[in-house]
Amino acid sequence: MSDVKKLYIKTYGCQMNVYDSERMAEALGGSGYVTTDSPEAADMILLNTCHIREKAAEKVYSELGRLRALKDEKPDLKIGVAGCVAQAEGAEIMRRQPLVDLVVGPQSYHRLPAMEARTRVGEKALDTDFPEEDKFEALKARPKARRAPAAFLTVQEGCDKFCAFCVVPYTRGAEVSRPADRILTEARDLVERGVREITLLGQNVNAYHGAGEGGGSWSLAQLIWALNDVDGLERIRFTTSHPNDMGDDLIEAHGTCPKLMPYLHLPVQSGSDRILKRMNRSHTAESYLKLIERIRAARPDILLSGDFIVGFPEETDADFEATMDLIRAVNYGQAYSFKYSTRPGTPAAERPQVADDVATDRLKRLQALIAQQQRAVQDSMVGREVSVLFEKPGRFDGQMMGKSEYLHAVHVDDSPARVGELARVRIVSSGTNSLAGQML
Ligand code: SAH
Ligand code: SF4
Ligand code: F3S
Repeated sequence: MSDVKKLYIKTYGCQMNVYDSERMAEALGGSGYVTTDSPEAADMILLNTCHIREKAAEKVYSELGRLRALKDEKPDLKIGVAGCVAQAEGAEIMRRQPLVDLVVGPQSYHRLPAMEARTRVGEKALDTDFPEEDKFEALKARPKARRAPAAFLTVQEGCDKFCAFCVVPYTRGAEVSRPADRILTEARDLVERGVREITLLGQNVNAYHGAGEGGGSWSLAQLIWALNDVDGLERIRFTTSHPNDMGDDLIEAHGTCPKLMPYLHLPVQSGSDRILKRMNRSHTAESYLKLIERIRAARPDILLSGDFIVGFPEETDADFEATMDLIRAVNYGQAYSFKYSTRPGTPAAERPQVADDVATDRLKRLQALIAQQQRAVQDSMVGREVSVLFEKPGRFDGQMMGKSEYLHAVHVDDSPARVGELARVRIVSSGTNSLAGQML
């Protein structure tokens, strides 16, 4: 018998958690773990959690409740909680759910192997520090196994913006950027393993200011230009950006950098200046619209995406209508929208709340408008030629699935393309969730 142990990781929340889950799996690889898709087969279950909205946090506790039966069957099973709920709740998690063996905050993943060892001798392990060292650097080098053609790479973490509704500055800490040379090394490693598209990640990715090669600090645009020179890397994306950090060089790169894809996620949250002010966003609806104009001047076909919160404390009908007006003015290709969720410890939590049925109604109306825009943008792709990076086989024999430069899902029937191939495709029709294309 080998002493291979199985690790099951369930990931909630944003792409940064997806990236972190991969790195945690690799870190625990050194302790003899391989990943499994089945919680029943696992020797360790890790929930990599999100704290952004109330429902996200509550999901963690109900999932932990469901794991009780598994743990009863298999007392050696170790259960860990990582991510933003771990950071926010810390030891409280173990108090509320004693079956939890390990709680690790997002800045302490490099300490995971040592923590796992402690759980093996029956101890509980808790670490929610914000250590000085770069956790990614302290994690062992990424293994060389081949991997999917599109990958995430975290370049910046944390946030200093303190929007009045948001827990991220508390769960992820202050803004920190990784040095450019480490990112470039990691990108080259990813390319060697078959990666052709990299999405640079950060809670405020365009606030990136990591130490550059040759001294001084680099902007995100400088980093993107350096990645543009990496042979074998074909596509670069980044997310999530803040409107106040869209530097001139980044806007310009959208028009001139060949590998930077024409897609930008630029959350605005609200179209009402009164609400934006109360949200502590430090931009106005007008400054956002002006910014969009400049971005579109640099890259006219760019697909824009956003985030919206409805029902923020004290939001009136007029405030909400201002948000709808802004959406009409921008014409989004994609957007995420949420009902405001009270987060304990954030400034907005103390303010007069909007009635739930009012917020629900606003969310419905906003989502209908976004769906309409999204569909129109998608439909306008019909007849156009796009490039598709094929990521996986489709549901039918011979069908291949991939993403266009605009991040639309595209499927091609009877395709000779292989996973990882980049090809020219003509869009022939637009469906609910994807576009159909033909190879050129
Ligand atoms: N750093 C990114 C996104 C962080 S969280 C940014 O600044 O854009 C992702 C999205 O979740 C936010 O853009 C916001 O729309 C939403 N969100 C954050 N806190 C929320 C809350 N308390 N209630 C509802 N939605 C929230
Ligand atoms: Fe949260 Fe605002 Fe920071 Fe985004 S910019 S992570 S919404 S505090
Ligand atoms: Fe959620 Fe933390 Fe990401 S709160 S959205 S997992 S930064």
